[in-house]
Amino acid sequence: MSEEYVLELEHIRKEYPGVVALKDVTLQLRKGEVLGLIGENGAGKSTLIKCCSGAVIPTSGKIKVNGKEFDRMTPQLAAENGIAIIYQEFNNVGELSAAENLFLGRPIRNGIMIDRKAMEAEAAKAFAQLQIKIDPRELVKNLSVGYQQMIEIAKAIQQNAKVLIMDEPSAPLTSNEVENMFKVVELLRTQGVSIIYISHRLEEIFRLSDRIEVIRDGEYVTTLITPEATVDELIRLMVGREMTQKYPPRKDCIDEKNVVLELKNVTGNGDHNMSLKVHAGEVLGLGGLVGAGRTELAEVIFGAKPKESGQILLHGREINPKSPREAIDLGIALVPEDRKRHGALLTNSIKNNINMPIYERISKASVIDSGTEKKTAEKYRKEIQIKCPTINQLVKNLSGGNQQKVILGKWLAADSTLIIFDEPTRGIDVGAKFEIYKLINDLVESGRSVLMISSEMEELIGMSDRIIVLAEGQMTGELEKEEFNADTIMAYASAVVDNKEVG
Ligand SMILES: Nc1ncnc2c1ncn2[C@@H]1O[C@H](COP(=O)(O)OP(=O)(O)OP(=O)(O)O)[C@@H](O)[C@H]1O
Ligand SMILES: [Mg+2]
Repeated sequence: MSEEYVLELEHIRKEYPGVVALKDVTLQLRKGEVLGLIGENGAGKSTLIKCCSGAVIPTSGKIKVNGKEFDRMTPQLAAENGIAIIYQEFNNVGELSAAENLFLGRPIRNGIMIDRKAMEAEAAKAFAQLQIKIDPRELVKNLSVGYQQMIEIAKAIQQNAKVLIMDEPSAPLTSNEVENMFKVVELLRTQGVSIIYISHRLEEIFRLSDRIEVIRDGEYVTTLITPEATVDELIRLMVGREMTQKYPPRKDCIDEKNVVLELKNVTGNGDHNMSLKVHAGEVLGLGGLVGAGRTELAEVIFGAKPKESGQILLHGREINPKSPREAIDLGIALVPEDRKRHGALLTNSIKNNINMPIYERISKASVIDSGTEKKTAEKYRKEIQIKCPTINQLVKNLSGGNQQKVILGKWLAADSTLIIFDEPTRGIDVGAKFEIYKLINDLVESGRSVLMISSEMEELIGMSDRIIVLAEGQMTGELEKEEFNADTIMAYASAVVDNKEVG
C-alpha cells in the first residue's frame, strides 16, 4: 500500500566506527502531512534525514520515494525525486542577491548570458507563493536570519520539492520569525507538500504536526497521532522514563552581602548604561527579545567586545579584561550561544575540548598530567551525559546537542567563579536540560554566581532568582522572584520598541 506514502524509510541502519547511529529506524511520510520527528540529543534524527538527501549513506535499509525503491540517495537523486532539506546552516551566499541565491548553481540563461531579469521575476513568483515579502534584488547579507531561511525554503519550492525536511528550523529565529515560518509551513501543507519537522520544542510539534514519530537511541519507538498525544507521554517515550519535575529544587544559597559582579553604567557596542549586581550563590536571569543586546553585554564582561565607558567590578575590584583569556584568568566563563563559531574546536576530541581552559593548571613543565586530563573529561561526560563511544571521539562527530554539552563541560571544568550562560539549553533535549539545570544549581550552591541569558520564558522564570530585562540595549525592568510573570517580562522586553513606535 505504498502509494499512500511519498517517502518511506525501511529498517535504516547507519554504523560509524565505534558508534551505531541508527540501529533500525522506519519512517513513513504521507502526502500533505507534517510529521514531527522527535528524540533526545544523539537519538539519530539528523543522521536519519541525511540519508534522505544522500549526505549520509545508510549501512543497510531501503528508501522509497513514491513507491520507487533506492538503497541509497545521492544529492542529485534526492533533487530529482523532489526531496529538499533545510539544514541549520544555510547555504546562502551573502554577497549575492536573493534571486541569485535562489538560482545558485543553475542560473537562468538567455543564450550564453545570465538572465537576471528572468531570475528576479521567477524569484518574485516563488516569494509570492510563500506569501513573503523579499525584494529579489536585495543582497542576502542584508536580510535577517528568518528571511535567509525563507530563501532556502523558496529554493526548495522553486525546484519543485514535494518533500521538505526541516532540521530544528526554529532554533536560530526570533519569535516573530518563528511565527512567519509556521505560516509558511502551514501554507505549504495546503499546497500538498509533505513535511518532516524536527524540533526539541514540543509546543511547536503540537502546533504544526499531524503525526509524531519518536526515536530513541537509533531505534524506532512509535508514531502517534498528534491530537491524541500528550507532552508527558512524548517525554516519557523520548527519554525512556517518567519525568515529573522540570526544574530541580535548589537550596537557598544567595549571599546578599557578597557581590561578585557589579556593572556601573557600562556602555559598549551600542548598549547604554548597564548597571547590575550579581551575588554569590545567585542566578541572575537576563531576559529580552533576540537582539536586545544581552549577548553583547556578556561579551563585554568576558573581554570579547570592548567596553566604552563605565566600570566592571569583580569582588569589588575594577577589572578591564581585554580578551577572553584575561577574563578566564580572572575566573569568568562564558558558555556561548553559537557553539559552532565560538564554543568548540570541532576537529579536536571531547577530552581535549573539556580540558582546554585548564591545561596550564594540569601541566608541569609542559607535560600534561594525562591522568587528571582523562578523569576530568570522564567526570563531565558522565555528569552531563555526553553521548559518545569514548572521550577520544572528535566533537564534529557528535550530534548538535552533544556538542553543546561538551562546551558546557569545558566551562564547568574551568572552575570559574562567575559563569555566564548564553541560551544554555538551546537545542538540548528535555532529559539533558534537567541535568544542566542541576549543574547550574550545583554551581550556585557551591557559592558561584551565574548570569543566565535565556529567551525561553519558562526557563528564565524556572531558574532565575532575579530577572533583569533588556530591550534594544537598555535595561527596562528588574523583577524579584515574587514578581515573576511572563506578561510583565514580555511588556518590559518590548518596552523601548513600543516607545519608538509611539514617538
Ligand atoms: N560522522 C559521524 N561519525 C561518528 N559518529 C557520528 C557521526 N555523525 C553522527 N554520529 C553519531 O550518531 C549519533 C546520532 O547523531 P545525530 O546527529 O543523528 O543525533 P540527533 O538526534 O540529530 O541529535 P541532536 O538533537 O543533538 O541534534 C550520535 O551518537 C552521534 O555522535
Ligand atoms: Mg540533530
